[in-house]
Amino acid sequence: MSVKRIGVLVSGGGTNLQAIIDATLKGDINGEVVIVISNRKDAYGLERARIKGIRSEFVDYSDVDAYNKRVLELLIEEKVDLVVLAGYLKVVGKDIIGTYEDRIINIHPSLIPSFCGKGYYGERVHKAVLDKGVKVTGATVHFVDEGTDTGKIILQEAVEVLDDDTIESLQKRVLEIEHKLLVKVLRMLCK
Ligand code: GRF
Repeated sequence: MSVKRIGVLVSGGGTNLQAIIDATLKGDINGEVVIVISNRKDAYGLERARIKGIRSEFVDYSDVDAYNKRVLELLIEEKVDLVVLAGYLKVVGKDIIGTYEDRIINIHPSLIPSFCGKGYYGERVHKAVLDKGVKVTGATVHFVDEGTDTGKIILQEAVEVLDDDTIESLQKRVLEIEHKLLVKVLRMLCK
């Protein structure tokens, strides 16, 4: 069975990326991260790639179409089979969605359809969860379509919200589940 070529798009710290890299190197996923792309030069996710000798590309176009065109070029150049959005804060261009239909996944730090969509990312998600007072939150991995957090759900896992939770404590616990869930989905998709 050929090893799947994975491309990862990041905008921040890249802890989800790190979980994928570690799992592929341990052989837990029949895949290899061949490129990491970011819209932010200072995204630590790019450094995580460099440390492991994985190609890392900062794409810097103010024009959205030129930006997405370059991202697609890089994915095709590296013969990527599967695209992962891991803490990626840009809208994915239509051409990329069309080229990689049902081959792009995203990790979101809530139980979609709650606390998702425009403006719900990173700490804002957990703040909304705490402000609403829900007792259960979690993480969702879903396929990416042209909407925001609207693609077909693949896997979810619940996380209990504790009475004394802060945004930071909740984010930390959800992030651990995100890492586990993302690796589980990639193991399934790369079989
Ligand atoms: C996490 O909250 C993740 O759910 C969201 O982006 C945040 C940062 O993730 N997708 P990472 O540490 O950059 O992987």
